[in-house]
Amino acid sequence: MSTEQPSIGVFDSGIGGLSVLRELQAALPGERFVYWADSGHAPYGERSTAFVRERSHAVVQALREQHRVKAVVIACNTATAAAIDSLRHAHPDVPIVGIEPALKPAAALSRTGHVGVLATRSTLASDRFQQLAERVGGDCHFHPQPCDGLADAIEQLAAHSQDDAAEDGAAVRSLIRTYVQALGPIGGGAGAIDTLVLGCTHYPLAWSDWVSATGAKVQLIDPAAAVARQLRRVLAARGALSEDGSCARAGEPRVHLQLELVSTGELAPLQAAVARWASPG
Ligand code: DGL
Repeated sequence: MSTEQPSIGVFDSGIGGLSVLRELQAALPGERFVYWADSGHAPYGERSTAFVRERSHAVVQALREQHRVKAVVIACNTATAAAIDSLRHAHPDVPIVGIEPALKPAAALSRTGHVGVLATRSTLASDRFQQLAERVGGDCHFHPQPCDGLADAIEQLAAHSQDDAAEDGAAVRSLIRTYVQALGPIGGGAGAIDTLVLGCTHYPLAWSDWVSATGAKVQLIDPAAAVARQLRRVLAARGALSEDGSCARAGEPRVHLQLELVSTGELAPLQAAVARWASPG
């Protein structure tokens, strides 16, 4: 039996989950992580629920077979909506933490009572999303906006060479502008949307483009830090938290922010994306 410190398995359809991973690394500096990008099957957002569920089960199964995993984070709204219940049923011995659009904090923050929700078509069509919106909505009105092609366009930012970077960046900005405009009036005026939920883990990677497209007239909500706090609580409750440096034996250097990368597609774009968006520095 390996004496290696067990890892937290984190997965997404591609690089989007890095927006969650960086928060996990910051909140849990003593932990090891295995980040699994299912890039060979991305994007998930416009695929069927059955496809996303099947991929999610295959990834979690492989993570558990190939790594000593003590918890799994589904760093993908689409996969959480499609598969978290069946994954928990299939793996009752491992805690599984998911991510979903942060409707509750957004409803609490909104002053106009109008909240835009940007996510994949699959997330917005899911029963889980509909039930969440009904549960936490109250007087708040949610405006769902599917962002077809956006996760894929963000994926291309990492996949292509520097030469193509300007074109890829322009494609992302253009899609973001289109989807923000499709929401209708934004800002603090009566009836306008003053809060936007980024309900796909790819979207926070283009944070400055959201700020530009909205003219900084709305609050942007990303639940990644809340996911990290939830994982910390879950691990602590099981006595499974590795505190900073606890993996080092006396006299050995402390090992921080250990990270293993796996991709079902090309590894180089994932490595480039980690350097750009999730590097511990
Ligand atoms: N990043 C994923 C999410 O949070 C999905 C993106 C995709 O593969 O379409 O929903």
